[in-house]
Amino acid sequence: MKIITKSNTNIIKVFIANCIIIFLAAIYAYIRYSANNLPIPDGSIIFFLNKGLATTAAISISISYILSNLSKLKSINLNFNAYLKYFGTIGFILAALHIFVSLMLLNSIRFPYLFKTASVFNFYGEMTIFFGVISIGLFLMPAITSITSVKLAMGANSWKKYQQIGYFALLALIFHVYFANFFQTSNFSKSFAYLLPLHYFIWAIILTTLTLKAISIFKKKQTISEFPTEVQGKK
Ligand code: HEM
Repeated sequence: MKIITKSNTNIIKVFIANCIIIFLAAIYAYIRYSANNLPIPDGSIIFFLNKGLATTAAISISISYILSNLSKLKSINLNFNAYLKYFGTIGFILAALHIFVSLMLLNSIRFPYLFKTASVFNFYGEMTIFFGVISIGLFLMPAITSITSVKLAMGANSWKKYQQIGYFALLALIFHVYFANFFQTSNFSKSFAYLLPLHYFIWAIILTTLTLKAISIFKKKQTISEFPTEVQGKK
């Protein structure tokens, strides 16, 4: 008889939530492209699926960091630790899938705005790849150190430091998304007639994550400075 543990049900819940976001993001992007008469390239299913994967990767990883920060806020007094690891891990796997699908799709016919000639990237193409590589490279650190055996082998302090690298990866992601969508941002009237582009939602969730982190650093500093110096010295 199979035993369904609590952690199994949690991972299934997070997996289903991610599948729903992929589906909704892909459909939203399709409706938006159609409504604004934006050019839909060949292989449209995989093109929009890739948008769903990319968006959900960014959202899932951000949710993981948001939950981690919310769990630390004493005023809220909620503990989301059971979910945050799964949002991070599944988000990372989706990011890897997005890279794989992007490299399959990437050419000057589907993405003319990222290429100078048929086989050479323009500045925006180069920057998209550059920040994409930086982002996945940085996300790799928290992902590896989330593996239970690696985590147990590290001290709590160095484990925390590796997890914080994810914030820099999110920062790189803002630029990756900016350069990947530069053509939309520059064609303001054409792209924005109906429905906001997906990357606006992605920026919003990343900025929320970074703001929460800034608040938690500020609160921590404030708590430390509320102690007289002698007490801090004794701690
Ligand atoms: C080597 C690394 C990477 C490559 C080659 C790459 C490639 C691409 C390409 C070609 C696009 C444009 C797709 C389109 O407009 O349909 C894109 C957009 C995007 N990528 Fe990546 N990417 C990389 C890493 C990442 C990572 C690590 C993440 C997230 C964790 C990510 C999330 C996104 C997002 C959210 C978009 C914008 C989607 C949209 O606005 O529709 N990418 N990427």
